[in-house]
Amino acid sequence: MTNSVSAPAKIILFGEHAVVYGQPAIAVPVTDLRVFATFQPNDPPGQGLRVTAEDLDIQLPGDLPERVDDALSLTTKLVLQRIGATHAPDVTVAIDSQIPIASGMGSGAAFAAAFARALAASLNRTLDDDALNTLVYEIEKIHHGTPSGIDNTVIVYERPIYFVREQPIEPIDVGAPLHLLIGDTGQKASTREAVGDVRKLFDSDSSRIQPLLDEIGALVRSARDAIAAGDSQTVGALMSQNHTLLQVLTVSSPELDRLVGAATEAGALGAKLSGGGRGGNMIALVAPETQQQVGAALRAAGAVRVFPTTIR
Ligand code: PMV
Repeated sequence: MTNSVSAPAKIILFGEHAVVYGQPAIAVPVTDLRVFATFQPNDPPGQGLRVTAEDLDIQLPGDLPERVDDALSLTTKLVLQRIGATHAPDVTVAIDSQIPIASGMGSGAAFAAAFARALAASLNRTLDDDALNTLVYEIEKIHHGTPSGIDNTVIVYERPIYFVREQPIEPIDVGAPLHLLIGDTGQKASTREAVGDVRKLFDSDSSRIQPLLDEIGALVRSARDAIAAGDSQTVGALMSQNHTLLQVLTVSSPELDRLVGAATEAGALGAKLSGGGRGGNMIALVAPETQQQVGAALRAAGAVRVFPTTIR
């Protein structure tokens, strides 16, 4: 059995925020950006479960307390429960993440998924995807409060999905490759806060906000058809429309708007913020011929990192 496992990053192509209110959303894994978790028996033994990562070196007791509320301990507890083990293994799990944190790429869910896979593997067990998805959703609640479940789902199953809260997952067809650039504003942003603010807006003015959410839902359904048909022009136009609606929901930011504007002016087919917003990442849909100039425009407009990915 391999002693290294992993989980990918994700981006939301369409429907973030509205998905919390039961609208559909489309998300895809970013398979080239991953969290790796490598495990090995402790030497000398008897150290309990040790977890190391950049800026992190934690030792968890073999016997966890009844109530735990941090992501690492809860993941451990849920994995042990699921596989019927009574003690945490005497191993070191080393986590190595390529995913920027707090930037809308699912770093928390990917960390939990990779860590849970490593723990199970160190006990010579595997977690099936359904069980892992349920488990990572519990961890998402610690990070995000009231998550829709889209992050854990796309990260665990690692395929493009059309997601509706509490409905069976629908894989989507991708008729022609979608070439995306992911532009990072470099600003960390709290999804929990953005989701909370949209909730306040909704509660204070639902007659104005509900139609916007419905409009996003309709747009996501059109996007699914356009993606399946390989119609990049339409996919791009829908992305830009989705961004405008997210601005009205107050989850964009001057930096995100600047990057979205720069990408569009440089010839992107469409662009929008991706994920919780207020910072973090935006995405631009490009044709292979315009990829370079859009990437340069994003950097010139302040993107601290531009990462290309192709959805197939
Ligand atoms: O910021 P991210 O990538 O974790 O995305 C959050 C997506 C939201 O729709 C804003 C919240 C949710 O739980 O779906």
